[in-house]
Amino acid sequence: MALVLRPIAPADAPAAGRICHSAFKAIAEQHNFPPDFPDPDTAIGLMRQLSGNPGCYGVVAEQDGRVVGSNFIDERAPIIGLGPITVDPAAQNQGVGAALMTHMLDRAARNGAPGVRLLQSGYHTRSLSLYTKLGFAVREPIANLQGPPLALTVPGCIVRAATAADAASCDRLCRAVHGHDRSGDLRKAVAGGAASVVERHGRITGYTTAIAFFGHAVAETNDDLKALIGAAPVFGGPGFLLPSRNTELFRWCLQHDLRVVQPLTLMTVGLYNEPAGAYLPSILF
Ligand SMILES: CC(C)(COP(=O)(O)OP(=O)(O)OC[C@H]1O[C@@H](n2cnc3c(N)ncnc32)[C@H](O)[C@@H]1OP(=O)(O)O)[C@@H](O)C(=O)NCCC(=O)NCCS
Repeated sequence: MALVLRPIAPADAPAAGRICHSAFKAIAEQHNFPPDFPDPDTAIGLMRQLSGNPGCYGVVAEQDGRVVGSNFIDERAPIIGLGPITVDPAAQNQGVGAALMTHMLDRAARNGAPGVRLLQSGYHTRSLSLYTKLGFAVREPIANLQGPPLALTVPGCIVRAATAADAASCDRLCRAVHGHDRSGDLRKAVAGGAASVVERHGRITGYTTAIAFFGHAVAETNDDLKALIGAAPVFGGPGFLLPSRNTELFRWCLQHDLRVVQPLTLMTVGLYNEPAGAYLPSILF
């Protein structure tokens, strides 16, 4: 059956969202993990949001005029964020995923992007193999953490809502830690009232777009991240993502009754700077 790839349109959101929900649910249930999306409507909502976002590029795969999968990239930052990629469980293991991935990698290369990053479900052998074959390298084991809000403060750290005036300092911090900024995502979170900064001695030493599955955080030290995590009213979605090699912060979270929901793997192709500070990655960007 000929496979056709074309840019996603908002009208594709219901079909792509149903597949996104069922593909993640099927693989999660096979391994006794909770699904990433609680119901089809949540996944359809995300497809709608991504397909209408001018900073993102989405594509659907069609077989005989029927949508069988989709994939997205965020092109707002120099390092491209990839995902979610999903293929209809009935059409998996036939090369659709490889076609959806190759399409995005070709586009990133054509546009001169220095690198692409993604978060891989750590228990999924197929995606791990597929991404590795396509050039991605394993960079970091990640723990997805969830639990009740900690409602605590860290001495010397003041957490407050981020404003547009903070954005340049946050970008500088992100560049110092990651070698690139995530200004598009940051500015959207500031405008939506979701972003926070942490200050020590009147200086911004960390920020987060949200301590959540879809949020990222960057900080000078683990104490700054603890202050941001401690002030979060909720850990959005299935919870936030923590590099598990950051043993001190990981152990602190566990000592504060947070639980590991699932393992993930940060994978990249192209430019990757070993982070020079504390950080929490986002599932997408
Ligand atoms: C991950 C996903 C998008 C891949 O799509 P797909 O169409 O099934 O993948 P493809 O058939 O193109 O490629 C799978 C490749 O992995 C290989 N593979 C599968 N299981 C493997 C294993 N255990 N060890 C080694 N290789 C394996 C296959 O042989 C194939 O490679 P080949 O074409 O060179 O033979 C799809 O399975 C999916 O939607 N999964 C659920 C949602 C999900 O996990 N999304 C990704 C989140 S990180």
